[in-house]
Amino acid sequence: MLKGTKVGLRARYEDDIPILRAELYDDVVNSSRAEGGPWRPITPGSKDPRLVVDDKEEGRVQFSVVELGGGTLVGAAALWGIDNHNRSAHIGLGLLPSARGKGYGTDVVAVLCHYGFVVRGLQRLQIETLSDNAAMLRSAERNGFVREGVLRSSAWVMGEFLDEVLLGLLVQDWKPDSKG
Ligand SMILES: CC(C)(COP(=O)(O)OP(=O)(O)OC[C@H]1O[C@@H](n2cnc3c(N)ncnc32)[C@H](O)[C@@H]1OP(=O)(O)O)[C@@H](O)C(=O)NCCC(=O)NCCS
Repeated sequence: MLKGTKVGLRARYEDDIPILRAELYDDVVNSSRAEGGPWRPITPGSKDPRLVVDDKEEGRVQFSVVELGGGTLVGAAALWGIDNHNRSAHIGLGLLPSARGKGYGTDVVAVLCHYGFVVRGLQRLQIETLSDNAAMLRSAERNGFVREGVLRSSAWVMGEFLDEVLLGLLVQDWKPDSKG
């Protein structure tokens, strides 16, 4: 398991699946905002790639996020779009509603940076998020990500086009222990 100061990132367990489905992916607004595609229901037992991890998928590594104290599941996180030629990847995360606003998101980003830069030897990490997602923007910036651009009206979300912000962090600018 990868450990931050508040959360751990471990493999997806079978028992995580119904919780993640009910609390994250069945939520139409949350899914529509976080996923860059149209919401549709996930049939119980289906092999939806957000829930059922394919360990042979080279370009994506998925984690379940747990509290370090008691091991309670609090969300899901991924390093995706892993490009071993350009040595870059994207970060994605979603926390259960009851786990938001406690500093876990900032810690998940820190742990994913450690995984991307140290374990995988990547040079650049990237995050795309809606421009009104203050908690995601702050979680990224606290870890040293900088805003590199605004993708105007790039996301169709529940009846309107919204801007996305693209943030990037290069390994030479990464300061592992400072969240400032
Ligand atoms: C986005 C998300 C991962 C952030 O994680 P989090 O644990 O809630 O965020 P944190 O508690 O680490 O807070 C990070 C910063 O944002 C601020 N923040 C948290 N919630 C906020 C809110 N609703 N509005 C404004 N600022 C907020 C915190 O005060 C903190 O700022 P600080 O470092 O200056 O104190 C989480 O809220 C989430 O899962 N949201 C739904 C799914 C989602 O949007 N995923 C990202 C898709 S790209």
